[in-house]
Amino acid sequence: MRNLDQHTITQEVIDRLVDTPDPRLKEVFSSLIRHLHDFARDVSLTEDEWARGIAFLTATGHKCDAKRQEFILLSDVLGLSMLTVAMNNAKPPQCTEATVFGPFFVDDAPHYDNGSDVANGAAGEPCEVSGTIRDPEGRAVAGAKIDVWQADAQGLYDVQRDELDRPQARGVLHADSEGRYHFHSVLAEAYPIPTDGPVGEFLAATGRHPWRPAHLHFRIEAPGYETLVTHVFREDDRWLDSDAVFGVRQSLIAPWVRRDDGSYSLRYDFVLNPETAPVSQAR
Ligand code: BEZ
Ligand code: FE
Repeated sequence: MRNLDQHTITQEVIDRLVDTPDPRLKEVFSSLIRHLHDFARDVSLTEDEWARGIAFLTATGHKCDAKRQEFILLSDVLGLSMLTVAMNNAKPPQCTEATVFGPFFVDDAPHYDNGSDVANGAAGEPCEVSGTIRDPEGRAVAGAKIDVWQADAQGLYDVQRDELDRPQARGVLHADSEGRYHFHSVLAEAYPIPTDGPVGEFLAATGRHPWRPAHLHFRIEAPGYETLVTHVFREDDRWLDSDAVFGVRQSLIAPWVRRDDGSYSLRYDFVLNPETAPVSQAR
């Protein structure tokens, strides 16, 4: 146990977890320690570099408050959020794919009837959105709860506007008895993720842009189905192949149709994955 060197220290640290009561916690930390040590050896991490790393993580924490989660943003730009989504949302091919949740969801968004305008004054070209919520056999998922949220014409979410005193361009709807949903809003535009913090410094230092292709966010919940957290992306967007947070899936790209009066419409049908019955414990 004495005179540990750069090769023997890793197993010694992992062995120190021997009394961890929670087996999953033990597994996760053992792997984390192994990979962190391998990383440090791999890049021959200097003491100065690790001090800079700690300063970066400290600044990331200091940037967080009730409205801003810089660690989620860091996970997003490192692709870790999307990796976790991909690993945990495997489903039959006919089901709608999931993508990143993002930091701009609000729990108590206003409720609307189908056909309402959820923009609530948000700036942008008028846009009508409709479609269905079905199961893989094509049966309507009546009453499914649909949360929708989006950026406005300036690429900002309502929660990013300190001057706003009400929710805009977000709401909760319910699918009707035939699984249909329908609302009016504004045209979603591409926007840069927030760059006024450590994540912005990281993007600049690595020559990366902060843009996300234009999209609508959806969270769809119904009893007996896996909750779906996803986006629908505009097919004409220039950032589809370089989304700053790696969230684009081909199946989630759709055409927004421009009408003669300058307004837009989108039709998108969602397919939910039925929850699998819990496997009964073998005796
Ligand atoms: C979003 O789409 O709202 C989002 C996702 C990840 C990082 C920043 C924003
Ligand atoms: Fe977004």
